[in-house]
Amino acid sequence: MEDGIVSLRGVRKVYEGKQAVTAVAGIDLDVREGEIYGLLGPNGAGKTTTISMCTTRVLPTAGTVHIAGIDAVRNPADARRTMGVVPQYNTLERACTVAENIQFHCLYFGFSKADAKARTAQLLEQFHLTERAGAYPAQLSGGLAQRVQIARAIAHKPRVLFLDEPSAGLDPQSRIAMWEAVQRLHTEGITVVLTTHYMEEADELCDRVAIVDGGKILVEDTPAALKNSVGAKTLYELDLREPSDTLGPILAALPHVSGVEQTPRGLRVMAEHADGLLPQVVSAASGYGLRDLSITEPTLETVFIRLTGRDLRE
Ligand SMILES: Nc1ncnc2c1ncn2[C@@H]1O[C@H](COP(=O)(O)OP(=O)(O)OP(=O)(O)O)[C@@H](O)[C@H]1O
Ligand SMILES: [Mg+2]
Repeated sequence: MEDGIVSLRGVRKVYEGKQAVTAVAGIDLDVREGEIYGLLGPNGAGKTTTISMCTTRVLPTAGTVHIAGIDAVRNPADARRTMGVVPQYNTLERACTVAENIQFHCLYFGFSKADAKARTAQLLEQFHLTERAGAYPAQLSGGLAQRVQIARAIAHKPRVLFLDEPSAGLDPQSRIAMWEAVQRLHTEGITVVLTTHYMEEADELCDRVAIVDGGKILVEDTPAALKNSVGAKTLYELDLREPSDTLGPILAALPHVSGVEQTPRGLRVMAEHADGLLPQVVSAASGYGLRDLSITEPTLETVFIRLTGRDLRE
């Protein structure tokens, strides 16, 4: 395996306490230079802990972390120069304006006063923040605050940007604006590692996705390959009045059906071809209290359910 710009080997994290928690249970991963890499998983999967070990906020219990070839455990200060970090929660300095937040970050990373000023002006412009330069963080919407955090994180021109749940709590419009900002950084060549529990975000934004659960990577691939791995082109979501044990096997025996799964509301029928199947599904299910039916394609959510038997949101 070629070492990536972000390279984790055998990384584990156990939080000690009254009851020890294994947050990360052995992760190997390599992020390629220039890609947008996503860690997709439900609450408590270990996403923040994994990112925090990359960004030197949390020390691994075992394993090695290299960022741009630098051992992040042994040389955290050097590693931090190569990375920008946007944590899960807003960490803007509340007593400083938007411009000051960015400028002080530049100064902290060794820019001269003049360079810090120039870089700040350029970032305010790039992120459409110039008009809000004098505003304080408390006066910003969630979407704007997130944009300031990203602008600040890349101010020292890091090679890798880590974003922990970048769209948590954002309205749909701000989320799309954030995606556009990340995509633009991507075209400029920066490597992006993000965590999310939104499968649409992972699908839309990421070149490769690792699905994590219980502190482990279950699978890792391009979104398209992950969706293909479901082995079905069409999914029928059946909403049933009551659960049924007998309907599943009947549906599974229909032609082109590759699988049938329980869902909270009924059953999911997975088919290799949709050709002529719908009337057969409807007629089989109508004797079992079929209330509604929708036809979809596999998503990363489907992949997650297949791997864990659970919903991403559960
Ligand atoms: N500082 C800590 N001390 C003890 N346990 C912790 C600590 N931080 C996280 N954990 C536990 O480790 C596990 C993984 O947490 P982590 O925050 O990494 O997950 P996550 O995937 O980021 O979840 P979320 O979607 O809620 O952000 C959880 O069981 C969590 O309760
Ligand atoms: Mg988290």
